[in-house]
Amino acid sequence: MIIRPAAEPDVDVICALVNGFADQNLMLHRTPAQVHRVLGDFLVVEEQGQIVGCGYLAYLSPDLVEIRSLAVHPNQHGKGLGGQIVKSLSELARARGISQVCALTLVPDFFVRHGFVHVDRWSISPKIWGECVYCPKFHACDEIAVLKEI
Ligand SMILES: CC(C)(COP(=O)(O)OP(=O)(O)OC[C@H]1O[C@@H](n2cnc3c(N)ncnc32)[C@H](O)[C@@H]1OP(=O)(O)O)[C@@H](O)C(=O)NCCC(=O)NCCS
Repeated sequence: MIIRPAAEPDVDVICALVNGFADQNLMLHRTPAQVHRVLGDFLVVEEQGQIVGCGYLAYLSPDLVEIRSLAVHPNQHGKGLGGQIVKSLSELARARGISQVCALTLVPDFFVRHGFVHVDRWSISPKIWGECVYCPKFHACDEIAVLKEI
């Protein structure tokens, strides 16, 4: 298993992985153009030549990044790959001079196991004012905000 920066040929596989879960309302859909725009902030997990996991860093402020599109192929769940992606994304953020990493998630316990703590979503206000206000679920959001100092 290797974790590496995503590259152009990975875009369609990343979209298929993420959108499979998005179809189940577990995360947001991504188009190839959206993935392409943030490709330099994406990591993928490769197992025997196949991409089985991914995630990327979205920059919310000079000090704060959000983990987005975190996904592991269903037949690879529970092997620690999701945790490895979170760890590698956190290390990438730290290497880029960022001090806090957050997520808005339906699986807060997964993040808590990796050192995140629950926070009020308003404490990540760049995300709320930048994106959430445009979401149809804004007033009935079921995602939980988690944050980690890195
Ligand atoms: C969340 C996800 C990335 C975890 O990947 P993974 O490779 O299975 O994670 P790991 O093997 O590192 O860790 C598994 C642990 O997370 C827990 N976990 C996984 N999915 C969970 C869920 N939906 N709810 C609560 N806990 C969950 C498991 O119980 C397991 O706990 P344990 O180690 O105490 O047994 C993966 O389940 C996934 O792709 N889910 C669908 C997309 C999604 O919800 N992404 C998160 C968006 S923020």
